[in-house]
Amino acid sequence: MPIIAPSLLAANFLNLDAECKTLNESQADWYHLDVMDGRFVPNISFGPMLIEFFRKATTKVCDVHLMIEEPEKYTEQFKNAGADILTVHLEACNHLHRNIQQIKGLGMKAGVALNPHTPVASLADILHDIDLVCLMSVNPGFGGQKFIPFTLEKIKQLRKMIDEKGLQVHIEIDGGVALENAASIIAAGADVLVAGSTVFKSADPAKTIQQLKQL
Ligand code: DX5
Ligand code: ZN
Repeated sequence: MPIIAPSLLAANFLNLDAECKTLNESQADWYHLDVMDGRFVPNISFGPMLIEFFRKATTKVCDVHLMIEEPEKYTEQFKNAGADILTVHLEACNHLHRNIQQIKGLGMKAGVALNPHTPVASLADILHDIDLVCLMSVNPGFGGQKFIPFTLEKIKQLRKMIDEKGLQVHIEIDGGVALENAASIIAAGADVLVAGSTVFKSADPAKTIQQLKQL
């Protein structure tokens, strides 16, 4: 069964208490928390302060997706805020290996995210050091965008790389995941589905999570 990681970016921020309760009582596995700095991506969302609140609101895994430049400057802050998994973008890191060691040294799981144009082959020399790859299936920065179909090809390539090396690395797909395409995403080899709009804009978020889980 896939891991379901609803993205809180699509939640109603005037009603976060209730949104968290819904997630906590649902089959959601992780909270996916999108941090945007207005530099790496053309949008600004939230930072460690809000993640501290989410940490207090749930016992589920806090999966923090950093869409920021110079993530190494903030690693410790996100650890202190309660992140369990910290994902940085390959495109934002000149010293990715060092950044990964820093994240793991603080006791978090480490993820690397790739923009749609970045080949999965660029992970070859870092794959054995990380816990998760986040393949962006939209250009990061906004929720509610359309899934880029070529991502399915990238999932297959990455699944092959991971299996050939005998590694246990999560493949997380982020952007435009819907009830209509989730089965093909899983069939291609992904095991973590991020879903923002699909979950929070649906009439019954808990039921939508259950439907994704059962795929
Ligand atoms: C996009 C974020 C995603 C986003 C997904 O930059 O990384 O996590 O919230 O939203 P949907 O599922 O609506 O595409
Ligand atoms: Zn994300």
